[in-house]
Amino acid sequence: MLRIQGLLKRFGALTATDHVDLDVRPGEIHALIGPNGAGKSTLVHLISGLLPADGGSIELDGQELINQPPHQRVAAGLSRCFQITSIFAQLTVAENLLLAVQAHHSNSFRWFKQRDKDAQLKTLAWDLAQRVQLQERWNTVAGTLPHGAQRKLDVALAIAASPKLLLLDEPMAGMGPAESAEMLELIEQLRRSDAGRMAILLIEHDMDAVFQLADRITVLVYGKVLAQGSAAEIQADPRVQAVYLGQEEDAHHPEPAAQQAEGTV
Ligand SMILES: Nc1ncnc2c1ncn2[C@@H]1O[C@H](COP(=O)(O)OP(=O)(O)OP(=O)(O)O)[C@@H](O)[C@H]1O
Ligand SMILES: [Mg+2]
Repeated sequence: MLRIQGLLKRFGALTATDHVDLDVRPGEIHALIGPNGAGKSTLVHLISGLLPADGGSIELDGQELINQPPHQRVAAGLSRCFQITSIFAQLTVAENLLLAVQAHHSNSFRWFKQRDKDAQLKTLAWDLAQRVQLQERWNTVAGTLPHGAQRKLDVALAIAASPKLLLLDEPMAGMGPAESAEMLELIEQLRRSDAGRMAILLIEHDMDAVFQLADRITVLVYGKVLAQGSAAEIQADPRVQAVYLGQEEDAHHPEPAAQQAEGTV
């Protein structure tokens, strides 16, 4: 569904994305992992269009996006979470969700009477609140929500457009164990409730979460794909183990360990 080929991004002398090939299948949770500075966030920015690429191809359902501006990629079916910055803090959860569904669906109801249109939009907004388990916060002002609930609202805004692919860059960052567990549950729930229509590309450092959630995993090291496969294949891959074990054993000097691992490719 998403097919990336030969993707290239340079920052001066540094090649942050080095001829990356990656494909995401419909409905799968695809995790992107790798050490700090491996180029995970850069790759997500290239996909969403936040950063221009220096070469390669990004196709969504056969449509080339590489030169498209971000809003056209959204129209093509991409959506990403912006880590709370897309939330209107002074508005309630309900108002935030209504604005999001109105932005994406109002055209489908343009022949409806105003009252029916409002009712339809409210139903869609309520469905979203249910999908991210925020029904009980319906009338809460978004800015007063706890951090974890704000992240859930952010996810709801990102899926309001019914995207084909949702990009999540460290959705559990800054969360305590209870909030992390809820977000993990939410991501699993999204997959189940969506009946395999929406795929998720997930960047996450917590390996337990990754192995629990991901159908397939791509490992990036120094901007290059080190390995790509099922969670079981990646877990058993000695090259991947070298990168991660090296980091744990020598937490203060991750660089030599990662280089060693790359040398084994
Ligand atoms: N705007 C930029 N200008 C210059 N260099 C950049 C820029 N953005 C990222 N880089 C560099 O590109 C490399 C990849 O960075 P990126 O943020 O994509 O890594 P990451 O895998 O997301 O890391 P982390 O796990 O720490 O979030 C790093 O060496 C980083 O310093
Ligand atoms: Mg990052």
